[in-house]
Amino acid sequence: MSLEGKVALVTGAARRVGRTIALAFAAKGVRVAVHYRTAASEARRVADAVKSLSGADAEVFRADLADPRSPEKLADAVARRFGRIDILVNSASIYEKTPFALATPDDWDRHMALNARAPFFLAQACAPWLRRSGEGIVINVADWAGRRPYADYAPYCASKAALLCVNAALAKALAPEIRVNAVLPGPVLPPERMSEAEKRKISEATLLKRLGTPEAVARACLYLAHAADYTTGAELTVDGGRSIA
Ligand SMILES: NC(=O)c1ccc[n+]([C@@H]2O[C@H](COP(=O)([O-])OP(=O)(O)OC[C@H]3O[C@@H](n4cnc5c(N)ncnc54)[C@H](OP(=O)(O)O)[C@@H]3O)[C@@H](O)[C@H]2O)c1
Repeated sequence: MSLEGKVALVTGAARRVGRTIALAFAAKGVRVAVHYRTAASEARRVADAVKSLSGADAEVFRADLADPRSPEKLADAVARRFGRIDILVNSASIYEKTPFALATPDDWDRHMALNARAPFFLAQACAPWLRRSGEGIVINVADWAGRRPYADYAPYCASKAALLCVNAALAKALAPEIRVNAVLPGPVLPPERMSEAEKRKISEATLLKRLGTPEAVARACLYLAHAADYTTGAELTVDGGRSIA
């Protein structure tokens, strides 16, 4: 299937991994709805880069996806602007350290709202457009740690485990017209605050003994969107073997 001329909504696309996914789709001629929450100027730069990469159209859309009213508004705005939605990539996320003794109900609610609930309701809001596409695709960017949690990040890891369940539930609910798959990155782009010693430690904990790249995650998304035409409900790890080390 050719991706040329399709429309992808990529959440959290202004920076880091989401940005790389957006640009990878753009390089295939995909028109991109660049979602952001706070990074307005970065989002605008991504939209400009999409246009100069392939001449494909792009627009920026602001939404706080922790707000339960946002998914529907965002999907409507994207559909109004482009007239179609073919691909939804749920990449926006929060990742906050919440040590066991300090974690609060608010930490849980914030992680679950953005990382698990918003992808579900975005898929619900985009579903009529994805069906109309004839080859609709949802990609949920989860985390290997949704399978094997980090001790100090229980709300984050639980929200990514919930996202894996959402991934399977959506695959069932949206079949046969729409394929739904998850990518489970390992350490591909550590938080900017992480020390070199910590980076070495997490590299050593992978089978491949190195950090991955956002481009590896983007290639996995392209594979699921473009080549994996008999795959739905799948979970594709891009973690250097971290989850089985
Ligand atoms: N980086 C890694 O090594 C790694 C490893 C495993 C899994 N992952 C997963 O891969 C995806 C991308 O990772 P990343 O490190 O690039 O993510 P990130 O930098 O932590 O966050 C991505 C974006 O989420 C957006 N966001 C935060 N709160 C939001 C809200 N309330 N509403 C809407 N958007 C919000 C932010 O947009 P603004 O900047 O515009 O505010 C941010 O740029 C995430 O799902 C992450 O869990 C990443």
